Amino acid sequence: MVGAGVMGGGIAQLLSNRNISVRVKDINTDALGGALREAYRIYSESVRRKRMKPFERDRKMRLISVGLTSDGMRRCGIIVEAVVEDFGIKQKVFRELGGITGPGTILASNTSSLSINEMAKVTPYPERVIGLHFFNPVNRMPLVEVIPADVTSKETIERTVQFARGLGKTVIVVKDVRGFLVNRILVPYLNEAGHLMEAGVSPQRIDAVAKRFGMPMGPAELLDHIGIDIAYKVAHILEGAYGGRMKMAALFEIVKEKKYFGKKSALGFYRYHGKKAEPNPGIQLPRPVRAISDEEILKRLIYTMVNEASLCLDEKVTSEPGAVDIGMIMGIGFPPFRAGLLRYADDTGLKNVAEDLGLLAVSVNRERFSVAPLLARLAANGQTFYPS
Ligand SMILES: NC(=O)c1ccc[n+]([C@@H]2O[C@H](COP(=O)([O-])OP(=O)(O)OC[C@H]3O[C@@H](n4cnc5c(N)ncnc54)[C@H](O)[C@@H]3O)[C@@H](O)[C@H]2O)c1
Repeated sequence: MVGAGVMGGGIAQLLSNRNISVRVKDINTDALGGALREAYRIYSESVRRKRMKPFERDRKMRLISVGLTSDGMRRCGIIVEAVVEDFGIKQKVFRELGGITGPGTILASNTSSLSINEMAKVTPYPERVIGLHFFNPVNRMPLVEVIPADVTSKETIERTVQFARGLGKTVIVVKDVRGFLVNRILVPYLNEAGHLMEAGVSPQRIDAVAKRFGMPMGPAELLDHIGIDIAYKVAHILEGAYGGRMKMAALFEIVKEKKYFGKKSALGFYRYHGKKAEPNPGIQLPRPVRAISDEEILKRLIYTMVNEASLCLDEKVTSEPGAVDIGMIMGIGFPPFRAGLLRYADDTGLKNVAEDLGLLAVSVNRERFSVAPLLARLAANGQTFYPS
């Protein structure tokens, strides 16, 4: 592991839990200590719940070693980079890794939003550079996105998929586009929650509608959970890449300026006291200019994802509707009983979805709700995303 922050620490714990010895490198000794503490905390929780004996925790902890140098990297089968989300810094790390590793070492990046192709370019072995996107918290989220660059070798892809499966993860292989698959579909949903708030709908009501649909938490709760500063950064990058339809709700800017970062700062869309969450009185919304029904809230949240997923299929981010559905169920907790985002759209009838999107394009926002070409085509021909 290179980088011992939230993700690096989490991935190191996961590896050791699978009895793989892992070396973690960082430039900051405090971060290295933090990664060890976090792994110890996760294992201790298992001990407390009687799922693990203290000696097993101690044995697994001994599989994690930390340091400030690159010793031993030449012999690694795979190096996973999880340093800060800054292209210049990642490039520097990849250049260094390219210089000190042998031709058998896979160089994987856990980036959420940067280009794997660009990272591959700076190494002498671009064919063994790949994206390996874990979700936070690493020990609990079952999904991993594997993102080959254009020049990544077949062997690198196969070894990386096997590696992630060996860690107990479900893997989807997706194309190197901004946000990859899951975040690209998630961001419009989170953004739409922001636009609804700007229209005067409270975060509590939006969350209640999403949860009644079956989401494990609503979009405002999810934003508090992810960290509003982190979500802001990713949403900003996606807005840069996709333009108008991903234009960030202005409210997020205000929330970020107020340093309402979510759970970690005890203030986000909610105010947190221990396990209790109540509305944050600092979030002031305008008075609604028109009544917005629960049905409209739900359609705006879900259909915006269907539309983006349809664009992803068109662009071959994945060609499988099943990969989108697995990604959304395992990556964001889309309700499994609805069998996935695209299966839900198929069941609702693509003609109905396209018609509603068309109406929202006129009444709410043309850029965000214009029906994606594939969806329009399938709806017009009475077809579905899944072959019937
Ligand atoms: N946090 C999330 O929810 C999440 C989810 C998925 C992916 N990611 C991605 O994972 C990566 C890491 O994110 P994070 O949240 O763990 O960040 P973080 O800020 O918690 O940790 C980054 C670590 O990188 C270290 N670092 C910086 N430069 C370094 C260098 N040259 N060599 C070695 N270490 C260096 C820092 O000291 C720090 O400990 C980012 O690319 C991020 O986009 C984050």
